[in-house]
Amino acid sequence: MPHTVLVTGGAGFIGSHTVVELLDHGHEVIVLDDHSNSSPYALDAVTKLAGRPLAAVYRADLRDRGALDAIFTSHDIDSVIHFAAKKAVGESGRIPLEYYDINVGGTITLLRTMHDHGVHRLVFSSSCSIYGDTTTVPLAEDEPAGPTNPYARTKHLCEQLLADTCARHGELSVIALRYFNPIGAHPSGLLGEDPTGVPNNVLPYMAQVAVGRLTELPVFGADYATPDGTCVRDYIHVVDVADGHRVALDHLDEPGLSVFNLGTGSGASVRELLAEFSRAVGREIPHRVESRRAGDVPVLIADPSRVATAWGWRTTRDLRQMCADAWRFQQSHPRGYQPL
Ligand code: NAD
Ligand code: WQD
Repeated sequence: MPHTVLVTGGAGFIGSHTVVELLDHGHEVIVLDDHSNSSPYALDAVTKLAGRPLAAVYRADLRDRGALDAIFTSHDIDSVIHFAAKKAVGESGRIPLEYYDINVGGTITLLRTMHDHGVHRLVFSSSCSIYGDTTTVPLAEDEPAGPTNPYARTKHLCEQLLADTCARHGELSVIALRYFNPIGAHPSGLLGEDPTGVPNNVLPYMAQVAVGRLTELPVFGADYATPDGTCVRDYIHVVDVADGHRVALDHLDEPGLSVFNLGTGSGASVRELLAEFSRAVGREIPHRVESRRAGDVPVLIADPSRVATAWGWRTTRDLRQMCADAWRFQQSHPRGYQPL
């Protein structure tokens, strides 16, 4: 059944790919984004790919209650997918109040507005970072949370406030998706990841080295207790993440909060990722081993069985495709979405 969906943060990396999936499956989409970490050009690529327009795009701050009220009054929204947040772990330690204000405060404003307008269906962006400093492999959803930085704590707090709100409002149905490490890009090469400033995450950093914007990839630690000494992560194709949101919309029928990992269930080390990305590019990516980055855990891999059992859903794209697609986007957008 087609839904009318408000997507907060819909111009961002995961949001823009999700909007394409939603449009491709016949849903009406309204985007709210303040473009604090995204380019409006991403939405041009979205409509080009989907071949049909968005119902509306609002450049607004999630915390602006007046703007949210106007959006919910103007459209017959029945569901919300909430991506808008700040997501840089290191920055969250430098400006924690900003993180709590946007990520937690923004979610509270959104929930209040949804409640006042009778909208009871929400998909929320959570994160594997809430598992924190863990040695459990793979990680199932009922592992205890132990977030180790302000960003991760904002996501954990949101899950808790969503559970409490669901307990009070029986009509509310929320799915929180804990993504592991989303990478890759739309296979068209039109849509991808375009971080502001120097990338924090490994794949966009590698991609910017490959196009010559950065000189070499720092490999943060090669002395971990892993097969090749570098950290292992569960990289997941962003189009699989987007597809997971599309499918989540069809499962927002049970009242209460449900939590699901979105991961592949297999890990790749930094060296393995580097080798696969080098294969996609066709040459070695310059890199240098540096000391460990504070806060990194050796291995983080999802147990994806809960979502497989509940929805019959699993990821379908492998590391090779993630790297090939990321490289296609980076090659065609060496400076991101900015005009050449
Ligand atoms: P992103 O920064 O590309 O997208 C977030 C979007 O929200 C951006 O377009 C930004 O402009 C917008 N935004 C930020 N603050 C806003 C505000 N106050 N009002 C309106 N819009 C605002 O990030 P992403 O990688 O697409 O992540 C999307 C969500 O997924 C985030 O909630 C993030 O915490 C979560 N997440 C991301 C990852 C990852 O590795 N990318 C992993 C787990 C969870
Ligand atoms: C991956 C691996 C680094 C950069 C982050 C967030 C997490 C979630 C996903 C939002 C690690 C190594 C990195 C570099 C490197 N996001 N690395 N050189 O830290 O697993 O997870 O994104 O919710 O909350 O923390 O991802 O891409 O930063 O790092 O060697 O220049 O690559 O040490 O082992 P991470 P990442």
